Amino acid sequence: MAAAGSAVGLGNIWKFPYETGANGGGAFLLLYLLFIVVFGASLILAEMVLGRASGQNPVGAFRSLGGGRWPLVGYLGVFTGFVILSFYIVIAGWTIAYMGFMLDGSLISGDAESIGAKFSAFISGGATPVLLAGLFMVATVIVVLGGIGKGIERASKLLMPVLFVLLLVLIARSVSLPGAGEGLRFFLVPDWSKVDGGTFTSAIGQAFFSLSLGMGALITYGSYLPKTTPMPGSAAIIVGLDTLVALLAGFMILPAVFAYGLDPAAGPGLTFVTLPVVFSQMPAGAIFGFVFFALLFVAALTSAVSLLEVVVTYLVDETRLTRRPAALIAGCICFGLGVPSSLSQGAVDIQIFGMDFLTAAASLTDLLLPIGGLCTALFVGWKLGPKSVALVTNNGTQRFALATVWLFILRFVAPIGIAYVLISGML
Ligand code: PHE
Repeated sequence: MAAAGSAVGLGNIWKFPYETGANGGGAFLLLYLLFIVVFGASLILAEMVLGRASGQNPVGAFRSLGGGRWPLVGYLGVFTGFVILSFYIVIAGWTIAYMGFMLDGSLISGDAESIGAKFSAFISGGATPVLLAGLFMVATVIVVLGGIGKGIERASKLLMPVLFVLLLVLIARSVSLPGAGEGLRFFLVPDWSKVDGGTFTSAIGQAFFSLSLGMGALITYGSYLPKTTPMPGSAAIIVGLDTLVALLAGFMILPAVFAYGLDPAAGPGLTFVTLPVVFSQMPAGAIFGFVFFALLFVAALTSAVSLLEVVVTYLVDETRLTRRPAALIAGCICFGLGVPSSLSQGAVDIQIFGMDFLTAAASLTDLLLPIGGLCTALFVGWKLGPKSVALVTNNGTQRFALATVWLFILRFVAPIGIAYVLISGML
């Protein structure tokens, strides 16, 4: 359940709809689903097994099970965790502001255009979004340190079903709007003329990001798993839940985007502009809106905790730092990296590689996560080889019907497939 909490987050509700919108709709959806099924599910299990077999952080796991240069894959993961968390806290900070905006009514009045303008004014506002990112970072550090993990666990067991129900309510609202049909068609009917190498890279990046895959989060969580846990079943549940929530978010956002005449390719603001318009035209919209963003905050928190946990576990295991200073230092560095991300949304013109800082950080992770996944596939498929099946089944005491398929995917399909997607994207 903790791993599912890591997987379900902003990636599903914020990133998935806008990536789908920006990459032409149905064809992107199909590619994303394909990558989830073909690479994602197998790699989740691969990461979990590395964690459980080693009982260590990503660097230690690759060192103790493989040695040589393999720990570099772990280091890459820790670095990727830093990069993701740095922009994750920015978007999560927006959810805090939005709870307020829903309550004071400032974002649930007016038409789509004025709501869009208010959103732009907020994210380009300089200090406030930066402070909220900081506040979210503090919350994440507190959870990682404070031993209130149990509380969060209990809270999210209760709150995630509520989020689920709320998604269903909002989908009902969204698809019944006049003009929603065009959005459904956009989401579900592939238009291959809009697909190029870049679509492939975005879809594979989204698949890995959404599943928390390719940077060691699942290695870290796997290291806490008891030997008796049947892992293939757990992996299937994580994949199923995460994909379901992403699909629901698509059905919630895209029909409304078309119904209100918004631009599906608007980018990172899509969810944050579309939903307030939906809430503003709904009975008790302010309350629904507040609850929705509060739940999104919790979903983001359980994901951010897993990101910080990777870095902290690494620092505690591999350096002399204890947990408290490790979490504080990691939190400060992430926040420091988050500041330019937040400011680049309109307050200051901060560009790298011709993109604003936040988009550049997000694009970098679209590349780093699949590379991490590719290396993990090679490691488990070839370096550990058939031994990895014994590790999954706890020396044959548990069933794993798809063991042969799994090993075949890790050895051939995933390395070749991921390399092909990444290279075609670059070309
Ligand atoms: N999967 C999380 C989300 O969808 C983000 C994440 C990525 C968390 C990588 C951990 C590791 O929001």
